[in-house]
Amino acid sequence: MSTIDDFRKLSDKEWFDLLVESTRTETVHGLRFPRFPANEIQAQFVGSSNEHALIEGLRFYEFFKAEAARAGNPLHAGARILDFGTGWGRYLRYFWKDVAESGLHGVDIDPVIIETCRSLGIPGNLEQIEPLGRLPYADASMDVILAYSVFTHLPENVHRHWMNEFKRVTRPGAIVAMTIEPRRFLEFVAGLKDQQLESAWHIGLQRFSDYAIAMLPAYDAGQFVYLPTGGGDFRDATVYGDAVCPISFFEANWAPEFTVRAHVDDPARFWQAALVLQKV
Ligand SMILES: C[S@@+](CC[C@H](N)C(=O)[O-])C[C@H]1O[C@@H](n2cnc3c(N)ncnc32)[C@H](O)[C@@H]1O
Repeated sequence: MSTIDDFRKLSDKEWFDLLVESTRTETVHGLRFPRFPANEIQAQFVGSSNEHALIEGLRFYEFFKAEAARAGNPLHAGARILDFGTGWGRYLRYFWKDVAESGLHGVDIDPVIIETCRSLGIPGNLEQIEPLGRLPYADASMDVILAYSVFTHLPENVHRHWMNEFKRVTRPGAIVAMTIEPRRFLEFVAGLKDQQLESAWHIGLQRFSDYAIAMLPAYDAGQFVYLPTGGGDFRDATVYGDAVCPISFFEANWAPEFTVRAHVDDPARFWQAALVLQKV
């Protein structure tokens, strides 16, 4: 049998190939990989499953690593990294190659998916948190926080709550990498008005098309826009929906503790916009 230490020198692409293989078979090159939940559960959390979900993950994982290195804080084996809103542990599977298991942390408000992660064998320390709770970490203890497709769902009060927790638990120089909904998301919702739709997701958004049209000027003036669409079990509309937060909001509110290091709004690269912040 192999251990994860035998795989640490692989390139990110080579590791991705093994992760894809692990969707089909649990042991790959003698290493036991974490298992995957059923396709429907994967898709419920990330909109796709197996190789497709991993490809989307690879893009952001590579982007994050390049930006962390550029910011002078490259990911290393002794880092402490938090995957905030980990879902079924897509990103913890990637970081398993780079960071010692004792440095891997994942939290989610969904107790069922946290229990699922544990039973699948996701590496690292997994904890359930409350939507407006406290992170179970000491002040200035984290080198990295990743939040992929999480702040895209948080209303302003919940966003501000976690912003303050991130300010508390990050070390100077720490990197926070997240996705945010760009302006084109509001345009997309506005464009759903009066259309015949089939997807339940689109129908849920269509209820807000008039609101999206009305809020475009407010967004352009720097206002946070929240559509209270809700997200099923453990994610009612008071804590979870669709959030469109302008970059100026980050520059005004995450400062002075954080500075914006990178902001990529390019649908050819990422479906949502990618944002990298660094703790001063
Ligand atoms: C769209 S999924 C993305 C999952 C994962 N980040 C990924 O990309 O594979 C959003 C996740 O964030 C979690 N979540 C929502 N609100 C949260 C909060 N306030 N704190 C932590 N997790 C939250 C949800 O339960 C869900 O697992």
